[in-house]
Amino acid sequence: MTPLYGRITGWGKYTPRRIMTNADLEKMVDTTDEWITRRTGIKERRIAGPDEPTSFISVEAGKAAMGVAGIHASDLDLIIVATSSPDYLLPPVSSQIQDLLGAKCGAFTVVAGCTGFIYALTVAQQFIQSGSYRTILVIGAEEISHFVDWTDRATCVLFGDGAGAVVMQASDTPTGILAFELGSDGSGAQALTMRGGGVIKPMSHEVIDNGENFIQMDGREVFKFATRVLGRSLQKVLAEAGLTPNDIDLFIPHQANIRIVEAAARLMGVPQDRFFTNIHKYGNTSAASVPMALVEAMEEGRCKPGDTLALVAFGAGLTWASAVVHIGGPDHSIAISLADELFLVARAKYYARRTVGAVQGMATDAMMALGERFGRS
Ligand code: ACO
Repeated sequence: MTPLYGRITGWGKYTPRRIMTNADLEKMVDTTDEWITRRTGIKERRIAGPDEPTSFISVEAGKAAMGVAGIHASDLDLIIVATSSPDYLLPPVSSQIQDLLGAKCGAFTVVAGCTGFIYALTVAQQFIQSGSYRTILVIGAEEISHFVDWTDRATCVLFGDGAGAVVMQASDTPTGILAFELGSDGSGAQALTMRGGGVIKPMSHEVIDNGENFIQMDGREVFKFATRVLGRSLQKVLAEAGLTPNDIDLFIPHQANIRIVEAAARLMGVPQDRFFTNIHKYGNTSAASVPMALVEAMEEGRCKPGDTLALVAFGAGLTWASAVVHIGGPDHSIAISLADELFLVARAKYYARRTVGAVQGMATDAMMALGERFGRS
């Protein structure tokens, strides 16, 4: 069977209409534009209105991505939505989106904090590689503004709303995710929580009085975790793909804090301008941050079909994820480019390493079995 690759053929985003600037926040909490800009890099963020719920912004981003890919909702085999801020606890927002799009396919939601989109993208690729599905819409959408305590200056200045989406389609030319890492360390969960409204603490007057219906965050802990994990995860996926930082056309990091991005760039030994940032315009849009940055980088010509990108994110859980992704684009007639050849070489190196690892593992097992046998006799 011809190997199937998950080709990214479309991308699109939706940004809510209302802009909230740092000057607006100065009127709401004890903060300054200077503090927010210097400590986070954020100048403004988008806040969704009542007519722009998560389902709506997801559908708009999804339609834009399908437009670039040149497909219709009836072509979709699956919809995967990464979000921690659905319209309701039930029904799943992914089913609302499927219905609003007019698609006739399965749909589910992935919850992995800000890391969710990279998780969802890798899941999509598995369905395509297995031959189960050919066309998948992957959305990262978030309206964290509804779960932020607008009197808490330590968190309310950080977050914004938005949605980004990509279409992934089966392809027999090499493209798509070259290597990925999905990470989770639940022992750090307390650094970023929203305790109210779940099974342990169902919504009640007490939950609201304690502010447990809002995000609570140990910013310094999350910051330390992020600076530790981002560079390490990127190095791991690059090594797995057989690439160096110089082979990456553009790094697309989670837009949480400009200082975290600067630290990751330093660790990777690449100039900071090779890390795309739009945090100044949107703040931290959680699971929407990586797809929105990817889409904006494409729209601004910072990257293009044929490029190899490195995506990386971290978030609640605590979770992290990275992926080295070759962007195929909608035009299937584009000839094999240099990047495609790079892809083939990297893939060959990856499988060679895995084979060596497996042979070493079998040899170790055989030695242990012999050892046990001699030990017994
Ligand atoms: N305006 C003015 N002063 C403020 C503000 C504000 N908005 N917020 C905090 N301060 C004050 C603090 O009260 C503190 O004052 P003190 O020294 O008198 O106690 C001082 O500024 C320094 O506070 P720190 O918390 O040490 O500031 P820091 O430089 O660490 O920046 C920040 C805080 C921006 C939250 C940073 O820690 C950070 O970005 N952490 C990562 C957060 C993150 O990425 N979260 C998203 C995770 S992803 C997800 O899944 C949702």
